[in-house]
Amino acid sequence: MNYFQTLKFGSKKLKLNDINTHILDSELLLSYALNLQREQVLTNLDAKIKKSRFNFFKKLLHRRQKKEPIAYIINKKEFWKNNFYVNRDVLIPRPETEIIVEEILKFIKPNSSKSLLDVGTGSGCIIISIIKERLNCLATAIDVSKKALNIAKFNAKMHHLINKINFVNIDIDKIQDNKYDFIISNPPYIKKLNLSKLDDSVKLFEPYIALEAGIDGLREIKKIIKKSNKLLKRNGKLIFEIGEYQSMNVKNILNDNGYYINKVVNDISSVPRVIISTKIN
Ligand SMILES: C[S@@+](CC[C@H](N)C(=O)[O-])C[C@H]1O[C@@H](n2cnc3c(N)ncnc32)[C@H](O)[C@@H]1O
Repeated sequence: MNYFQTLKFGSKKLKLNDINTHILDSELLLSYALNLQREQVLTNLDAKIKKSRFNFFKKLLHRRQKKEPIAYIINKKEFWKNNFYVNRDVLIPRPETEIIVEEILKFIKPNSSKSLLDVGTGSGCIIISIIKERLNCLATAIDVSKKALNIAKFNAKMHHLINKINFVNIDIDKIQDNKYDFIISNPPYIKKLNLSKLDDSVKLFEPYIALEAGIDGLREIKKIIKKSNKLLKRNGKLIFEIGEYQSMNVKNILNDNGYYINKVVNDISSVPRVIISTKIN
């Protein structure tokens, strides 16, 4: 079989399993199986595939047929301007989370040295993306999951930033008082009862601890807001991601806890997604 026929074979199998992105996924998995860039595959469609590579490709297809996300199969996800290593120990970075990076960079001038805390760092995608652009900043990244923290450290090494970020395996509740200019977070925010409604690719594969946030979906957000009151410098900023329909409640909680709401940023589907607030007392 040549690459063209192999791609057809793959996309047909995935389509039969109701995978909407069957063409793209077949291309990504074949590129991974051949250890080539996608463009190299698509510009060499007549090349013949070796039997061993074809067998490997079939194994990858089998995983995708069971709804495993592509990012976990190929251990890679692009976020902001970089690639990150991911596996099932961490949430797959989402495009809407890039809003946090985009917004915080507006507040930090190049070469200034602000202190940042990333709560629930997961793969480390947010803090690594920020520090890559603002090398004079001081950063701490925490996660209650030791396995997630190990992936974040691995990514920091890959991006030559391991000496720039202090990684700590701790719950936000237990962190020692320190003073930060910025606290950022993409916390878990799914209501317990809504977990079963999530896509199979999410609920069967992504870490429960990265998703579930109690009956109202606000358990971790409330913790972060309360704790940040002690951890932020006066006029320090708290910037975090929220779920659909949480904006009103979260704004009220922020106001009740002495924060001024600077801005709510919508994602590309017009869902309020990131809240920027300032500690004012
Ligand atoms: C939604 S994921 C976000 C991961 C990553 N920051 C991203 O945006 O892709 C939330 C992360 O918070 C961590 N986490 C959950 N509860 C926590 C807590 N109480 N304290 C610290 N980290 C927590 C989880 O282990 C998970 O890695």
